[in-house]
Amino acid sequence: MGEESVLLELEDLTTVFPTRRGLVRAVDGLSFRLHRGEKLGIVGESGSGKSVTLLSILRLVPPPGEIVQGEVRFRGENLGRKSNRELRAMRGKDMAMIFQDPMTTLNPAFRVGDQIRESLRIHKIGLQDNGRLARLLGTGRRTMEQERVLQAMADVGIPAPAQNARRYPHQFSGGMQQRVLIAIALACEPQVLLADEPTTALDVTIQAQIMALLDKINREHGTAIVVVTHNLGLVAEFCENIVVMYAGQLMEQGAIGLVIDEPLHPYTQGLLRCLPKIGARQEKILPIPGLVPDLAALPRGCPFAPRCAEVTTQCTTVDTVPLRPMPNGRWVRCLLY
Ligand SMILES: Nc1ncnc2c1ncn2[C@@H]1O[C@H](COP(=O)(O)OP(=O)(O)OP(=O)(O)O)[C@@H](O)[C@H]1O
Ligand SMILES: [Mg+2]
Repeated sequence: MGEESVLLELEDLTTVFPTRRGLVRAVDGLSFRLHRGEKLGIVGESGSGKSVTLLSILRLVPPPGEIVQGEVRFRGENLGRKSNRELRAMRGKDMAMIFQDPMTTLNPAFRVGDQIRESLRIHKIGLQDNGRLARLLGTGRRTMEQERVLQAMADVGIPAPAQNARRYPHQFSGGMQQRVLIAIALACEPQVLLADEPTTALDVTIQAQIMALLDKINREHGTAIVVVTHNLGLVAEFCENIVVMYAGQLMEQGAIGLVIDEPLHPYTQGLLRCLPKIGARQEKILPIPGLVPDLAALPRGCPFAPRCAEVTTQCTTVDTVPLRPMPNGRWVRCLLY
């Protein structure tokens, strides 16, 4: 893919949290690109820095956490140079996020339709342009906004939008709540949608419906989507490309088919062994032995070394393991290569 189709670019991004036990590098020298219309999955165990990566992209890292190194560029512009005002205008409108915990993101006190309307208002969609249009057509601004809200609800497959817009979040099922959040995120037609564990809280059938919905949005609007999940199976089905993270670092990256067929990093191999095989009578899931590392006390060398079956002395004596380019546009951070 050409340079001109690059939408979002992370370069050496490093985000830290000072803790009583020391500095935690939640995201550690992370670089990757997202192209227009791409579906990218970011996979890794709990605590690998997936959510902090998305928060860093939007510059929403909660203090005292801080981006200390590297850049995030959106359409070539370094977001680190933008004012808070510019960033606020960008969030939602250019890049929108679906947060990890849907049930706490919706406000229980407001009707669902009003919460979608609010998202439109913040970015003045349906106010300026449509306001003028509304006057021309002789309809009220409110009617135009209402149309937009109902359309957004219909787009994400919420039945009977007019009735459901008047209901409160608790009157919706988990799957419908997630649809409302997606409607809010998509109301301003962003170019990038960052989805943090969009289906984790949902049962399997509803999971598939939500992923089908994201797929439809990607196809029909060309929205680039980043899905963050610990579920490699979901990424295998939905995404074109994958980034595998461990201890804040990118361990492996490439086209999803290639990575699934022939995972290079022992960590990716381990994640794949955790996947239940379709059609297998006895589901044999082999968890990766050992625990996710303590980010405040990482060992020297490769952070995965203590759990790796193929570890050599070199893995624990080098300062850092470099990320290496591999054939077919793949990358891997492992001394085996
Ligand atoms: N607010 C915070 N204060 C201190 N440390 C934090 C904070 N948020 C995240 N971290 C640190 O950053 C690391 C990465 O966290 P992150 O939430 O990005 O993990 P994750 O990959 O999204 O995990 P999960 O799959 O559980 O959501 C955590 O292990 C934690 O040590
Ligand atoms: Mg997370």
